[in-house]
Amino acid sequence: MSKPKTAGLANVSAGTSAICTVGKEGKGLNYRGYSIEDLATNAGFEEVAYLLIYGRLPNAVKLNHYQNNLINLRTFPNELNGILELLPKSTHPMDVLRTGVSALGCLEPEENFEQQYDIADRLLSLLPGMLLYWYHFHFNSKRINTESMETTLAGHFLRLLKGQNPDELEKKVLDVSLTLYAEHEFNASTFAARVAASTLSDFYSTITSAIGTLRGPLHGGANEAAMELIKSFSSIDDVEIDLQKKLDNKEKIMGFGHRVYSESDPRNDIIKQWSEKLSKTSSEQQLFPISQAIEKFMWNKKKLFPNLDFYSASAYNFMNIPVALYTPIFVCSRITGWAAHVFEQRENNALIRPSSDYNGPEPRKLIPLDQRK
Ligand code: COA
Repeated sequence: MSKPKTAGLANVSAGTSAICTVGKEGKGLNYRGYSIEDLATNAGFEEVAYLLIYGRLPNAVKLNHYQNNLINLRTFPNELNGILELLPKSTHPMDVLRTGVSALGCLEPEENFEQQYDIADRLLSLLPGMLLYWYHFHFNSKRINTESMETTLAGHFLRLLKGQNPDELEKKVLDVSLTLYAEHEFNASTFAARVAASTLSDFYSTITSAIGTLRGPLHGGANEAAMELIKSFSSIDDVEIDLQKKLDNKEKIMGFGHRVYSESDPRNDIIKQWSEKLSKTSSEQQLFPISQAIEKFMWNKKKLFPNLDFYSASAYNFMNIPVALYTPIFVCSRITGWAAHVFEQRENNALIRPSSDYNGPEPRKLIPLDQRK
């Protein structure tokens, strides 16, 4: 049976939004009217965060003030370290963030919707620290200081991860990557956040719903799965045969294809260039050519193009970021887009409650328990 055109709500408009356009004419991405190419080239991630959360680009004074505020908001509430220490080492880091956000919702609850901007900024500031405190505690037996004077989230993340001054190129690439991941219209996790917001639930619940949704390999988890795929090849010569086998087995090749884009993912062109630049500084000289070979094969065989996750994975690998942290980095960025959508939903709310096409049994009468077979 062929899938209906609207399966998984494909080709269905589920609401009106002024935040982002995705895939007009099969390509292209704009945040509040600014193209992703323009933003990734001419603005830093904090400008993009401000644009999404506050609705306009900051001037230099406002940006400076915003960055200082984000630095000040990095201080943990007292109880958070202990909570993160209690989560087992085997926890998936996405679950660490989901739990961390949930815990913050108990420690610093949203008492009224006027607090929503402050909570969005607080989460934006705290997420890297939450993730990396848990990571170092369990994997390096260290209780790290989760505060830093780094003016950017990219610098802050790299400093906490590596415990040293961040490399300038790595900082730049991570910053661009955060911009590319920040917002993407009614994707699954954003939609989950909007559904939660539409019940007038609290801000933290909308974000935990979104993190849980982003975790899956068909959505955010694809960057981790893409890295596993790339690393599974030791040479370009293996690519064609192995990928063909996967396609013959009807396996999905992670990091390829997209629900909305039909020609290309505009974010991919940008991160690919940066990944290539980083690859020149890496000892893993085969990894970028293998990625290109995968890209070429997938285009020739299936006319499928890489999405943002594919070359983000290799870029993060060249920065020596552990694979399990790839999707959590997506969270550290996408919190800005989720926040913008929660605000927008609350501003003009209608409960999101679609209907379904029933295909179960016709009405029937219950057989009493003692007569049932
Ligand atoms: N590898 C192999 N085949 C793929 C594919 C991929 N990555 N993406 C799509 N296809 C094929 C499907 O098998 C299907 O083929 P069929 O019609 O012969 O059954 C067809 O293309 C349509 O795919 P479908 O999954 O129904 O489309 P969708 O709009 O629901 O899928 C994604 C969008 C993103 C879920 C899908 O492309 C995918 O699973 N990609 C891999 C995961 C990923 O990278 N996710 C991150 C997205 S940013």
